[in-house]
Amino acid sequence: MAESIKTVNHKVFKLGLFGHPVAHSQSPQIHTDFAKQFSLEIDYQLIDTPADALAIDFKHWIKSAHGCNVTVPHKNNIMPLMDHYTERAHLAQAVNTVYWQDGTLWGDNTDGDGLVLDLQYKGIPLAGAEVLIIGAGGAVQGIIPSLLAQGVECIDINNRDQAKAKQIASQFKQCSNTGLKMHRPYDLIIHATSMGHQGLAPELKQHIFHQDTIAYDLSYGAVAAPFLAAAKEMGAKQVYDGIGMLYGQAALAFEIWFGKRPNINLP
Ligand code: ATR
Repeated sequence: MAESIKTVNHKVFKLGLFGHPVAHSQSPQIHTDFAKQFSLEIDYQLIDTPADALAIDFKHWIKSAHGCNVTVPHKNNIMPLMDHYTERAHLAQAVNTVYWQDGTLWGDNTDGDGLVLDLQYKGIPLAGAEVLIIGAGGAVQGIIPSLLAQGVECIDINNRDQAKAKQIASQFKQCSNTGLKMHRPYDLIIHATSMGHQGLAPELKQHIFHQDTIAYDLSYGAVAAPFLAAAKEMGAKQVYDGIGMLYGQAALAFEIWFGKRPNINLP
């Protein structure tokens, strides 16, 4: 009898990740571990959808789901499929977390605040910090508002395609495009290009480092290695890959879905 009551009350929360490709994602494991902290049971699915099938696949799948995450290349394309999106998703022009509220679908973005959460866990001071971001791709737009909200002094953006750096910098008064030059030392240098996928790193100049400059790559593992090695060569004592940001954005997404912030135990 007790067993049948338990079965009736038992709820498995359907969650998932839309992307292309998604096969190697760590998100199912991360969220399953978070759920265990609260004795929740989730079924976190990986949905590999090409861009032209996103609208149909997503609308069908989400009807029976508790929420989902969204990754490359759909973070922008998913926006028109939302009923509403949050201010930070609007500022990022990208959605990485979808949830239901009163029967309507909301898009949010936890990437920037996930980065900040990781930087805070690592004890990296942000108030007053002078920051350089190398790269101006999709991820950069999302992290700038979160860094500014922590009171960073300025954010310079350095990118191969200067028009893109200018376009992003023009949206935030504390930001500027460095052009191809990087003039001065920074407290925090964030690498956000995709060069690591080719085993490459941007050329770094000694004078952008001071003795306590911290280097952070938004990618993790082997993809982050070339930049972090180059930063070490310039004397950076603290270098980090973005695995903590991955966990941070996941923890904040989990909190949106369940109202509980999980503890992060980095691998
Ligand atoms: P994401 O969404 O992950 O940020 P993206 O939007 O594809 O990725 O952006 C890739 C970033 O890496 C861009 O800043 C790109 O520079 P351009 O805007 O000039 O294209 C940068 N990038 C990629 N390959 C590069 C290379 N070989 N040298 C310099 N920058 C490179």
